[in-house]
Amino acid sequence: MTETSAPAAVLADFDAYTQAVETVTSAARAYYGGAESTVDDDTYDRLLRGIGEYESAYPEHVSADSPVGKVAAGALATGDVRHTVPMLSLDNVFDPEGLAAWAASLGRRLGRPAAALSVEPKMDGLAVAVRYREGRLEQLVTRGDGIAGEDVSHAIGTIEGLPDRLPEPVSVEVRGEVLLTAEQFEQANEIRREYGAPVFSNPRSGAAGTLRAKDRPYVVPMTFFGYVALPFPDDESAFAEELRAADHSEVMRRIEEFGVLTTGRTAARLRVCADVEQVQAAVDEIAALRAELPFGIDGIVIKADTAADQRDAGLGSRAPRWAIAYKLAAVHKITRLTGVDWAVGRTGVIAPRAILDAVEIDGSVVGFATLHNPADIERRGLMIGDQVSVYKAGDIIPRVEAPLVHVRTGDETPIEFPVVCPQCGGGIDKSQQRWRCVRGRACGLHAGIRYAVGRDQLDIEGIGGRLVTQLVDTGTVTDLADLFTLTREQLLALDRMGDASVDKLLAGIEQAKSKPLSRVLCALGVLGTGRSMSRRIARHFATMDAIRAASEADMADVEGIGDGKAPKIVAELVELAATIDKLVAAGVNMTEPGASPAASAAAATDAADTDADADAVAIVAAEGPLTGQAVVVTGAMTGPLAALSRNEMTELIEQAGGRASSSVSAKTTLVVAGDKAGSKRAKAESLNISIMTPEEFAELVRALLPA
Ligand code: IVH
Repeated sequence: MTETSAPAAVLADFDAYTQAVETVTSAARAYYGGAESTVDDDTYDRLLRGIGEYESAYPEHVSADSPVGKVAAGALATGDVRHTVPMLSLDNVFDPEGLAAWAASLGRRLGRPAAALSVEPKMDGLAVAVRYREGRLEQLVTRGDGIAGEDVSHAIGTIEGLPDRLPEPVSVEVRGEVLLTAEQFEQANEIRREYGAPVFSNPRSGAAGTLRAKDRPYVVPMTFFGYVALPFPDDESAFAEELRAADHSEVMRRIEEFGVLTTGRTAARLRVCADVEQVQAAVDEIAALRAELPFGIDGIVIKADTAADQRDAGLGSRAPRWAIAYKLAAVHKITRLTGVDWAVGRTGVIAPRAILDAVEIDGSVVGFATLHNPADIERRGLMIGDQVSVYKAGDIIPRVEAPLVHVRTGDETPIEFPVVCPQCGGGIDKSQQRWRCVRGRACGLHAGIRYAVGRDQLDIEGIGGRLVTQLVDTGTVTDLADLFTLTREQLLALDRMGDASVDKLLAGIEQAKSKPLSRVLCALGVLGTGRSMSRRIARHFATMDAIRAASEADMADVEGIGDGKAPKIVAELVELAATIDKLVAAGVNMTEPGASPAASAAAATDAADTDADADAVAIVAAEGPLTGQAVVVTGAMTGPLAALSRNEMTELIEQAGGRASSSVSAKTTLVVAGDKAGSKRAKAESLNISIMTPEEFAELVRALLPA
C-alpha cells in the first residue's frame, strides 16, 4: 500500500523547468481555490521535486514564481483574518527510506531520538482554524496563505464535529480539516441534482465550494476533524498553560472530551509509537484502512508527540520540523476516456457511463466511471479521447472529473448522445436532466424484475439473471405482477427448470405475497424512491389504498418528500395502477404491519402544531420497545443480528416502534454500534447518546427477531 516513492520528474533544461513551474503553480491555484485539479497528486509531487532538484543544480535559474518552499506553492490570495500563529504546511516523504531519514534528522536536531512519535491520518479537506472563546464557538477562518485567511463563520452550524459550546468556558483555537464524508458527498450531490446545480466531482472540491458558499438555498452538511489545539497567545489561564505543556496525543484526548471531533475514535485513530519501526507499522496499518474510512485521506502525519520535543525541534518557514506527511498514492489518476455507453436502468432511465483505459486507483482497477447525465457531460465539455482525471475514494463509485483540455491533440471526437433508446430503439423523454426511455419501466424490465426479487425487496430466491431474461424475452412476464401468476407449466417449459427448482421458486413467490407493503412498494420501483422512502410512505399511509388515494399535498407530508417530489410520485403511482391492480388480484399483501393511517394523520397534526421542525413530523410507528426512539446503526452487526442487512435492521427498528436514521444528530437517542463502528460512534459519545452493542440491542427487541 505504501510503496509510493514518486520519483522526481527529470527536468532536462530551462524550458522544461519553466513549464513545470507553470504547471505546478496553476495546479496549486486550482487546488487551493477548491477547483478541479489539473494534475493528479503523484504528478504534482513528482514535478515539485523535479523543480527542487533542478534549482539545486542551477541556483542561478531559480524563478521568482518557483513554488518551492512557499506555503500552498505561493498560490493563495491573502484573506482578511490574521492567524494567531501561522498555519504552516507539512513537508512530505514518500517511502520508508524517506521516513527513516526524517526521523534521523529529527533525532540529530534533538540530540537524541524523539521520546515518542504519534501517527494519524492526513485528512484530505480544507484546513480551518476554529476559535472558541470562553467556551463558545466564535469564528471559523480558512488557512488562506498561512498568515491570514478568510472568515467563513457563516458555515457554523453546518459542520458536524464542532459543538457550539464547550462543556467548560475555556478559550482555544482548534485547527483541523473540514471535509465531506463519503455519505455527505453522496447526499450533497443528491441535493445539488435536485436544485439543478452541477454535481461535485470529488469531496474535496465539494467541501471547498461549500465552505465558501454563502447564499445557497440548501444546506450541505460537512464534517470537521481536529488535529491541533492551541491556546491564544495572550491567554495565561491554567487551561492555556496546561495545553502548552501537554503532549500532542493528550491534547487530542482533551479536545475529544470537549465534544470536538478528531480521528480518535475512527479505526484510523492516533497511534503513539516508540521508534521509527513502530511508526512504519502504524503507517502501513492506517494506509491499509484507507479504502474503508468514511472520509478521504491523502497521507499519514507523523509528529513528535511530546511538547518538549516539539519545542526543541522548532519550526521551519514553511513547515514544522517536528512533523512530516507520509504521502499515499493519489486516488486521482489521469487516464483516457475511450468511449461512453448508455445503459437503461430499471425505471427506464438512460445513464451514461465512461469507458476508460483501465487504471489502478487505490488498490483496484477502474475501467468505468459514472457520468451522471447528458447535461453534466455537456457542462464538463468532455470528448472521446480526452485525458481525464478520475477520482475514487472508499466505496464511492469512480467518477470522471475534468478533461485535461491543455493536453488535447486535436484527435478528440465529440461524445454522441443517443437519439433513440439504446435498449429498445424507442423514443427518449428528454424533459428532465436524466433522460428516460418513453416506455419507462417496461423498457428496463429485466433490471426492474431483478431488483424486485432482490433480498431487500421481495426476497425471492431462485430467480437469477438468466431466468429473468427468459421470462421477459418470452413475454411471460410483462410487469412485476406477472411473477405472481406464473404457473408450474410455464416454468417447466423454460430452460433448465426441473421439478425441484420449480417447486422452490413457486414456494418463494408464495412467501413473497406476504411481505410488508413497504417492500412491495419498493419492488414496484417508483421513480424517485428507494428503500427508505418506500418505508416512510408505507408507514405514513399504512395501506396501498391510502397511498393511491393520496393527493400531492398528502404525499408532500411524508417526511423527506416535500412539494418537489410529491407530484412525481403521485404520477408514478398512476402509471403503475394496472400493475398494482394485478398484484392485489394475485393476493399480494398491501398493508404495512404496525402502521395505521388514523394514527399517522393524528401524529402529523400534533407534530405540526407543536414543533416547527420538519424532522419531527414523525413516521408513526407501532408501539414497542423502541417507541419514541431515534436509532442509528453503525459498524458490523454480530450475535443474533449478524445475518441482518442494514435494510432489515431498519425494518426491525421500525417494527419495534422506533425510527431509523443513517446519521447521528442531536435528535438521535440510541446508537447500536457493532465492530469497526467509526465516526458515528465517536459522535454519539460526544453528544452523550446511549450506545448499545448489537447483543444488547438484540435482547431489547428479542420478541421481534425471527426464531
Ligand atoms: S498537522 C503545524 N495533522 O495537511 C502543522 N495536518 O499538507 C500542522 N492535515 O496544513 C499540520 N491532516 O491542513 C496535521 N493529522 C493532520 C493533518 C494535517 C491533514 C493538513 C493540514 C496541513 C496540510 C499539509
